[in-house]
Amino acid sequence: MAEIVLAKDRNEAGAIVADHIAGLVSANPETVLGVATGSTPLPVYEALAAQAAAGVDFSHVSAYALDEYVGLPVEHPESYRSVITHEFQDRVGADPSRVHVPDGALAGIETAGERYEALLAASGGVDLQILGIGTTGHIGFNEPGSSFGSLTRVKTLTEQTRIDNARFFDSLDQVPIHCVTQGLGTILRARHLVLLAFGEGKAEALAASVEGPVSSSMPGSAIQLHPHVTVVVDEAAASRL
Ligand code: GLP
Repeated sequence: MAEIVLAKDRNEAGAIVADHIAGLVSANPETVLGVATGSTPLPVYEALAAQAAAGVDFSHVSAYALDEYVGLPVEHPESYRSVITHEFQDRVGADPSRVHVPDGALAGIETAGERYEALLAASGGVDLQILGIGTTGHIGFNEPGSSFGSLTRVKTLTEQTRIDNARFFDSLDQVPIHCVTQGLGTILRARHLVLLAFGEGKAEALAASVEGPVSSSMPGSAIQLHPHVTVVVDEAAASRL
């Protein structure tokens, strides 16, 4: 069973995770982090920025993002490359050449998955992977039905995920239909998974992932196959545990 950490609120959760990451980076300046997008990890990045301001050196850290939209220009403010650049890389002072996001450009999309897997393989492995969870139970963009052995590949977003993410765009039809995402098999290779969830809207998917049957219809349940998982939640997200 995963270790569950109940935080007072998302800021406390962010501080707890960032303190742990700062400890890793202080012990090993070349720590490899798995970074995620969405609103959930933002308090972690906020607290990491404070750690950087207090003197923790992130310049030798490598970071690998979970996923990217297909066909959205990288300079688009909602491309995951832009989000990771602004929310993580710039704030902690990471070296841009060590920060990696899957390539969602249409040209060459058929090799995007294997190119990213090759980068990850050369990294020596992710030491700590930050994860959020979608209301569909997706981690990364592995929607229900994703194989637990899957590697980085192109996937189609569910209608529900596009609706959930429409808040970041002007309208639903601007939300891309496809993505490149690390597979569940890729994610499970990280040495430590840290899954964060906040708010009542995540309670059901969280409980199903942590305590429900291990099933590809609930991608988050893949975490039960991993030997080192920490789940950091507020009370509302924990309400169905
Ligand atoms: C997004 C991301 C996931 C994220 C999830 C939850 O679409 N691809 O990595 O964990 O959906 O998003 P949020 O944290 O905004 O609720």
